[in-house]
Amino acid sequence: MEGKVCVTGGAGYIGSALVHSLLQNGYIVHATLRNLGDESKVGLLKSFPGAEERLHLFEANIYKPQEFEKAIQGCAFVFHVATPMFHTTGYKYNDVVEAAISAAKTIADACIRSGTVKRLIYTSSVVAASPLKYDGSGYKITLDESCWTPLHINVPFTNDFLQVLGRTRKRNQMGIQETRRQRFFLQI
Ligand SMILES: NC(=O)c1ccc[n+]([C@@H]2O[C@H](COP(=O)([O-])OP(=O)(O)OC[C@H]3O[C@@H](n4cnc5c(N)ncnc54)[C@H](OP(=O)(O)O)[C@@H]3O)[C@@H](O)[C@H]2O)c1
Repeated sequence: MEGKVCVTGGAGYIGSALVHSLLQNGYIVHATLRNLGDESKVGLLKSFPGAEERLHLFEANIYKPQEFEKAIQGCAFVFHVATPMFHTTGYKYNDVVEAAISAAKTIADACIRSGTVKRLIYTSSVVAASPLKYDGSGYKITLDESCWTPLHINVPFTNDFLQVLGRTRKRNQMGIQETRRQRFFLQI
């Protein structure tokens, strides 16, 4: 199998497994990390079979989303896996949700502009979807793409982390659904 695939957050838990699997299957991989000087992450990726010939590393930060463009250029598929768990101050974004949503939009635009990307795959979270009715009065009978987690309701066992996760993934998934007519978006 030939072709170029971009994996954002290529050194993360899911990202590194993807990079490993893509290299094993013969793809040329463009993986992004925030710091190419981080030997623990770079070393891991470079140790994968096929990395020497087919792995290219790029520095890109969600808070500077235009940095992803270079890694996306020429790729047929983009896995957008990178996500900040904690907010970094000093940028124009007020919180991690704003930063992650802005980056997802910029990355989607770069995919459209590239002229080569056939599909953008976004890893969401189970907390973005829920069968809970919007007014919290019970559960819907069926679960489908209209079942977004109602974030205005306080549910048991939630916390700040899950709220942020839910807000980011829900808004990114909804945005991606809106642009689905572009025909290359898939969320998992
Ligand atoms: N793990 C699961 O079981 C699971 C299940 C469902 C959904 N997901 C979703 O899948 C995605 C990845 O999960 P994961 O478990 O692989 O997470 P992870 O191991 O924490 O990896 C996250 C990646 O995001 C990158 N990152 C963090 N902040 C960044 C920033 N400011 N700019 C650029 N990159 C940044 C990190 O890159 P650096 O190398 O530069 O630090 C890291 O590679 C998340 O959206 C998560 O919600 C995960």
